[in-house]
Amino acid sequence: MTNEESPNLSSFDDESLNKAFAALEQQARDDASSLDSPDAVEAFRLRWTGRKQGRLNDVSSRWLKAAPSEARKSVGERFKTLKDLVEGLLEQAAGSGPTDATLAAEAIDITLPGTRRLTGAEHPITRTLNEIVSVFAALGYSVGVGPEVETDYYNFESMNFPPGHPARDTQDTLVIANQEKRGLRERLLLRTHTSPVQMRTMERQPPPVRIVIPGKVHRNDAADATHSPIFHQVEGLCVDTNITFSDLKGTLDHAMKALFGSAVKTRFFPSFFPFTEPSADVQISCIFCGGKGCRKCKNSGWIELLGCGMVDPAVFAFAAEKQPAYDPKKISGFAFGMGVERIAMMKYGISEIGQFYAGDMRFLGQFA
Ligand code: DAH
Repeated sequence: MTNEESPNLSSFDDESLNKAFAALEQQARDDASSLDSPDAVEAFRLRWTGRKQGRLNDVSSRWLKAAPSEARKSVGERFKTLKDLVEGLLEQAAGSGPTDATLAAEAIDITLPGTRRLTGAEHPITRTLNEIVSVFAALGYSVGVGPEVETDYYNFESMNFPPGHPARDTQDTLVIANQEKRGLRERLLLRTHTSPVQMRTMERQPPPVRIVIPGKVHRNDAADATHSPIFHQVEGLCVDTNITFSDLKGTLDHAMKALFGSAVKTRFFPSFFPFTEPSADVQISCIFCGGKGCRKCKNSGWIELLGCGMVDPAVFAFAAEKQPAYDPKKISGFAFGMGVERIAMMKYGISEIGQFYAGDMRFLGQFA
């Protein structure tokens, strides 16, 4: 509000004072007669009693202070009367509650339908991730997590990707800047897979180990219908005496049947991962055509779903630096890793990975 000034007073005799104050009182009454909303009351309060720009303050600082000493008392008395009036009007306005007009504007029509509150629901990625984890939890696996910002050592070297090895090129990622002072092993990057948590787990506890590790991972991958630079994996690790490839096959065959239905078949194809030897890709019979061949399985009847293998002795050797019980001559184990988005896309028939991250309620609402 702009500063509203009262005219300067030139004479301070009773008659001039009466006239000047009467005009102000009338103004206050006029102002107060139309206070029909809390906002209007507040505006009135500011206009009259505001500390800096209020009219009372203006009158006090100019009339009262300018008054010659013999007139000060009569100006003061009249000022006090004006102030009491303004405060009285304000009290009345604030206490009198809303006018009929405001009430009518705010009235609630109880015959209108209410506001429907949407119940929250698990995101399809979270749901799929939990489903995978519970399949393994039912087999006695524990659940662990690890950091998303990982060291070069855990993400690569201890997983048997030696420095400079071309296998690292298959998992390019963002690295944290300005780490030249650190040794390569300590340098930080956004983890490219959940496999480093295998090593973190083994360093913490001697065998036996049965653990699944869900989490977010990062890759320098161009986004397309089936790739996203940020996605989710569930890692698995089982280490004990006499763990064989048959245990791996039986476990994953069971897990795929639990996830996709008991009619699903699995087959294991030779593959390569630095941290497993031998390594395999697991394929399941196409859940869309039952294995006959269709567009989804590129007419092969099979769909590739995850990677796995027997833990490479070189990986156990890194673990044995902290936990000597990981002696590859005495124990063995298998590991596996699967992409959560890929499994969710299969389960729910989603063809665009970007749907998971777009936050479109029309998409998400279907999972409520
Ligand atoms: N870490 C692999 C990847 O991101 C997935 C994987 C393959 C994990 C084989 C494993 C495994 O534990 O044994 O591509």
